[in-house]
Amino acid sequence: MAHIQLIGLSKRFGPVTAVDRVSLEIHDGEFFTLLGPSGCGKTTTLRAIAGLETPDEGQIVVDGKDITYLPANRRRVGMVFQNYALFPHMNVFENVAFGLRARGEPAQEIAHRVRQSLALVRLDGFADRKPGQLSGGQQQRVALARALACRPEILLLDEPLSNLDAKLREETRTEIQRLQKESGITTVYVTHDQSEALALSDRIAVMNNGRLEQVGTPAEIYGKPATAFVARFIGQVNVLAGTVQAVEGSRVLVDLGVGRLWAERPRSDPPPVGKTVQVCIHPENLEPAGADSSNGLEAQVELVQFNGVTTLLRFRAGAVTLEAIVLSRSPAAGLRRGMSARLTVAPEHVLILDDAS
Ligand SMILES: Nc1ncnc2c1ncn2[C@@H]1O[C@H](COP(=O)(O)OP(=O)(O)OP(=O)(O)O)[C@@H](O)[C@H]1O
Ligand SMILES: [Mg+2]
Repeated sequence: MAHIQLIGLSKRFGPVTAVDRVSLEIHDGEFFTLLGPSGCGKTTTLRAIAGLETPDEGQIVVDGKDITYLPANRRRVGMVFQNYALFPHMNVFENVAFGLRARGEPAQEIAHRVRQSLALVRLDGFADRKPGQLSGGQQQRVALARALACRPEILLLDEPLSNLDAKLREETRTEIQRLQKESGITTVYVTHDQSEALALSDRIAVMNNGRLEQVGTPAEIYGKPATAFVARFIGQVNVLAGTVQAVEGSRVLVDLGVGRLWAERPRSDPPPVGKTVQVCIHPENLEPAGADSSNGLEAQVELVQFNGVTTLLRFRAGAVTLEAIVLSRSPAAGLRRGMSARLTVAPEHVLILDDAS
C-alpha cells in the first residue's frame, strides 16, 4: 500500500510537452485511472512513477518520501506494459520469476511467490507453457502475475486490456478489479476507454495534451463534467452553445438560438449576462414529452434507433441536433421520424461547462 503525490510534474521530449505540470494525489489502496486520448501523456506519467522517465520539473512523493530521482529498481513498483512484453523464450514460471531472480531471492522463496502469483491470476497449472502457447488473455494475466510477484506497493497498468477481444476484455477487467480489491494495492491504471475507466476506478483523472482536465469519481466525471472536452470524451452527450440571458438565484437562463433553457448555476461564479457558454445535457436526461414541460425545446424526430433495453432518438431543432435515450418500453419510444415533440429537461441536468473549448 502506498500514497502517491505528483507535484507539478512535467516531462518534455524535444518540442513536445508530454506531461504538463500535473499535480494529483492517489490515496492508499485506491484504484486510480489516467484516462485520455492517444498521445495525451498517460504512459509518460506512468513511466515517471515507475522511475523509467526522469521528470524535467516537479516531484514524485510516495508515503511522504521524495522518490523523483530514486532508480527504478529501488522503487516498490510493479508495471504491466502496454504490449505486456513477456519473454517469448522463457516459460510462464520463468517469466513470473524474472524480477525475483534479478533481486537475488532464494530459489524456494521464488517458487513459492511464483505459485502464489499464478494462483492469484488463476493460472495454476500453466507454469511450463511458453507465452506462444497461451491466449492473449492468459498472456495478459502472466504479465500481471509477474508484476505482482515482487509484492509491489504500487501497481501500474498501462492499457492492459488493449490487445484482447471484447469478451476477454470484460472478463479480464472483472478479474483485475477483484485482484485489486482483494490485495488492496494502490493501482494506477491507464486507458483511453471511458467505459473501462468508469467501471473500474475509484477515481479518474482525465488528461488532455499533457494536462489534467478533471479529477473525480466516475459518477462526478460522468455526471458533472467540468469541461466540454471531458463531457465529449466521457460519453455520448449533447453539448450546445448559447448565450446567458439571465441569472436568478441558483439558475441561469441560456438562449440556444432555437429556444431557451434554464440551467444549473455552475460551481464557480455565474457567467455574466451576454456571455457565450456551452451547456451539456446527458441524453438520458432529455425527456421527449416529459410530464413537466416548463423547461424545454420544440424539435422534430430525425432518427429512431431501437437498441434493446433503450431506444435512441435523434431530434433536430433548427441547426441543433439533440439525442435522447429512453427506455424502449416508455411511450416516447413510440415516436416516429418526422413527428414533433417537446423535449424537456430539469434545470439541474443542464450543466454549464467551464470553458469554451
Ligand atoms: N521517448 C519519446 N520521445 C519523443 N516523444 C515521446 C516519447 N515518448 C512519448 N513521446 C510523446 O509524448 C506524448 C505523450 O506520449 P505518451 O506515450 O505518454 O501518450 P499516451 O497518452 O500514453 O498515448 P497512447 O494512448 O497512444 O499510448 C506524445 O506526443 C508522444 O509522441
Ligand atoms: Mg500510452
